[in-house]
Amino acid sequence: GQEHKRYSYETLVETANFLLSKTSVRPTIGVICGSGMGSYWNEGSLAETITDAQCVPYEEIPNFPVSTVEGHHGRLVFGHLGDVPVVAMQGRFHYYEGYPLWKCCLPVRVMKLLGVQTLIATNAAGGLNPNYKIGDIMIVKDHINMMGFAGNNPLHGPNDERFGPRFPPMNKAYRFEYRKIAKEVAKELNIENIVKEGVYTCLGGPNFETVAELNMLKMVGVDAVGMSTVHEVITARHCDMNVFAMSLITNECVTSYDLDAEANHEEVLDVGRMRQDILRKFVKQLADRFAKA
Ligand code: 6GU
Repeated sequence: GQEHKRYSYETLVETANFLLSKTSVRPTIGVICGSGMGSYWNEGSLAETITDAQCVPYEEIPNFPVSTVEGHHGRLVFGHLGDVPVVAMQGRFHYYEGYPLWKCCLPVRVMKLLGVQTLIATNAAGGLNPNYKIGDIMIVKDHINMMGFAGNNPLHGPNDERFGPRFPPMNKAYRFEYRKIAKEVAKELNIENIVKEGVYTCLGGPNFETVAELNMLKMVGVDAVGMSTVHEVITARHCDMNVFAMSLITNECVTSYDLDAEANHEEVLDVGRMRQDILRKFVKQLADRFAKA
């Protein structure tokens, strides 16, 4: 398919240089805002809270994927969270939109070339763990790369050592120190009761899962399921970025044939709005603490 159009290191350096010419901010932390966390234009969302914001719409960025979602033109937001210079993706590229995985993850490599050392990836996910409630925040401890099992991987194809090694380890993908800090911050903010820690998996989407699929995932130790993040994290770890990820649990997965409930996208967005104040405070504190760690 589009595999052969994979962009070279030099091409992405051009993209990074373009962005550096557009902003005076030199970000050290990159944030990917997932559904309900500022990926849409709701006021008060995480991306909208970045101070001294300088925005660059995706369609103006050379070599960036062209957005397919009508009415939601994504953008990079450069600015500050507290004292920390950041760049945030307001809207990400999902596999189900039709991009190959490497293209979904291209912004992560661009972030690396901008000088970003730490990636904070957020997403909305369905809760499989029976102890999870709607509105919980799951710190991602580990992932299961389901698409990777089938040979679909953002690193598939020739490897450029300037980004990272051919065979990158993935056993310490989600930095222990950051997860520890996140639990401390949760205590300080008095939200420890809604902050959990677990295993995330990404499926290709766009459909939500069948009951049998969800029961299978539960059996292999998955706590939350979504349609993003795993490939972005693999790309970030490949180029030696430090990673923290978290999922907002927006619905309980339907693992019984007797239940009438159905997953839907509106619910995902509603829960995002319900939690946006907490998420904003949480991520701001995390950025501050990660920058010092
Ligand atoms: Cl139930 N499944 C998937 N794949 N993604 C989701 C979800 C469920 N809920 C929110 N995002």
